Amino acid sequence: MKFFIDTANIEQIKSAAEMGVLDGVTTNPSLAAKETAPYRELLEEICRIVPGPVSAEVLATDYDGMMKEAGELAKIADNIVIKIPTILEGLKAIKSLSSDGIKTNATLVFQPSQALLVAKAGATFVSPFIGRLDDISQSGMELIEQIVTIYNNYTFATEVLVASVRHPMHVVEAALIGADVITMPYNVIAKLIKHPLTDIGLEKFISDYKKAKQNA
Ligand code: E4P
Repeated sequence: MKFFIDTANIEQIKSAAEMGVLDGVTTNPSLAAKETAPYRELLEEICRIVPGPVSAEVLATDYDGMMKEAGELAKIADNIVIKIPTILEGLKAIKSLSSDGIKTNATLVFQPSQALLVAKAGATFVSPFIGRLDDISQSGMELIEQIVTIYNNYTFATEVLVASVRHPMHVVEAALIGADVITMPYNVIAKLIKHPLTDIGLEKFISDYKKAKQNA
């Protein structure tokens, strides 16, 4: 399972990269808006830090606008993936971009039919937003199961990129289903390693050893 970080914050990206388990980055306009540097500069810097796929999202909602922005974003670096909204115009853009050999990430996916369409159009990644479904009392993880089943049924090459992740159990459940990729905020990545019994056990190992040596 590949691990992506879901942020446009350079410090968080550097810190996650240092952990040695980071495979890529996803950004979106809301995440970029939280940072002071312009989006393009952020993306240039991110691509210098992370060699894996870096998703950069278009703002246009019409085919021509999306294609124009995609062309500009794709020039930033070879590892840029163009994030396209899963709407009718977006589907056409995904088809054209994938025919041109440009990698795409179909974003804002909330139902299996959308995932089926973007796979047929040749999307590199599909991003189902599980946390936002959970927020409205629908099962985000059930959507992941459905998409993985559909893609396996027809051996689609599109990778299932679990997005809108809120907590470590989302990561574990997605891994059990066999999702290809998960993108997480920094705080979720940091929580994956934590267990109170690990900390208590470690403290005891060290204090037992020190006590025994002091009394020897
Ligand atoms: C994915 O690529 C999106 O950037 C992200 O996961 C959205 O998450 P949110 O629902 O926490 O905004």
